[in-house]
Amino acid sequence: KTTGDLGDLRGKRVLVRSDLNVPLDGTTITDDGRIRASAPTIAALSEQGARVIVCAHLGRPKGAPEAKYSLAPVATRLGEVLGRPVAFAGDTVGPEAQAAVAALDDGDVLLLENLRFNAGETGKSDEERAEFAGALASMADVFVSDGFGVVHRKQASVYDVARLLPHATGGLVATEVDVLRRLTKDPERPYAVVLGGAKVSDKLGVIGNLLGTADRLLIGGGMVFTFLAAMGLEVGKSLLEADQVDTVKGYLERAEKEGVEIVLPVDIVAADAFSADAPHDVVAVDAIPADRMGLDIGPESGRLFAERLADCRTVFWNGPMGAFEMAPFAAGTKAVAQALVDVTRTGALTVVGGGDSAAAVRQLGFADSDFGHISTGGGASLEYLEGKELPGLTVLDEEDHA
Ligand code: 3PG
Repeated sequence: KTTGDLGDLRGKRVLVRSDLNVPLDGTTITDDGRIRASAPTIAALSEQGARVIVCAHLGRPKGAPEAKYSLAPVATRLGEVLGRPVAFAGDTVGPEAQAAVAALDDGDVLLLENLRFNAGETGKSDEERAEFAGALASMADVFVSDGFGVVHRKQASVYDVARLLPHATGGLVATEVDVLRRLTKDPERPYAVVLGGAKVSDKLGVIGNLLGTADRLLIGGGMVFTFLAAMGLEVGKSLLEADQVDTVKGYLERAEKEGVEIVLPVDIVAADAFSADAPHDVVAVDAIPADRMGLDIGPESGRLFAERLADCRTVFWNGPMGAFEMAPFAAGTKAVAQALVDVTRTGALTVVGGGDSAAAVRQLGFADSDFGHISTGGGASLEYLEGKELPGLTVLDEEDHA
């Protein structure tokens, strides 16, 4: 159901779950992509005269307030993006929030304080989440689920509230699911997936599933060293998940059987230490010195990856190719971003998945419009591609219990 199916929303209290989990440097938002992506749903509800109550999380506080995880700076930025004031409640379901909801006029927007300041938000069992979910639901008439980045979480504001209130899918969640469905259901080929980031253990599920759908798998980032080790290469002091080497060996064998091309770097930027001013050199992938760590894919690999992406019709990318936050190790990520931009211009569908990857391409100077779609979901988009059932989506298909 879309918000249009909820009837006339004028004067109704609409609880919207958004994903406003943005990176902060102190109280400065360093990438507001998720706020900009969430704004259209909130603006549309406000224009319809709804009393909009936005709820969201920031970081991973442990069920109690912590000043550094306050959503206050996000309320300010959301107001700037919407071009209208956004009220902020200093608690989530407490007296401040109750009073702020009661004070809302038609069309007003309120942001509640971090949901995860309440242990009930992330409780493991339905019982542990029930009281908090009930308190959230009691403040609203209807619920709109628009936090795509959290649909893989079975949490009170994502899952339980949808079972307590008449609910609808927000525009952002609908768009994200639409794009990801195009990747899983009969993608235009060749279909390539570029995976990077630190840990292969976070990506094992998705790799397993992609061996059945993708034509090419390009691997970079910290996780590549577990692949190189699986091929019998020495990786020096590079990040290595030794306990995953056998699993990766199995994947390499499966890829060969299924005819999936695995593209690995041919050269590596190897440094003395994890630091921007550490001495570093480009070395062949089979010549990583024992006392050095790989912090980026090398220039030859950047060219190879670009070449393997150039004729693709569908590309999904998650995870940086190196420690891009440090200038000497950003070139690999930049090369892949540029390759995606180039192939987008040929009409291919390109999707950048994940808050970190999205922030990386913006930090490197690319615009959102350079790519087909920048997903707001990291874990959520990977779990979707893994073929997992996402509780925050399945609950929206249930009939209203309320
Ligand atoms: C994200 O950053 O991927 C989402 O906001 C979900 O956050 P979480 O991994 O802390 O649940």
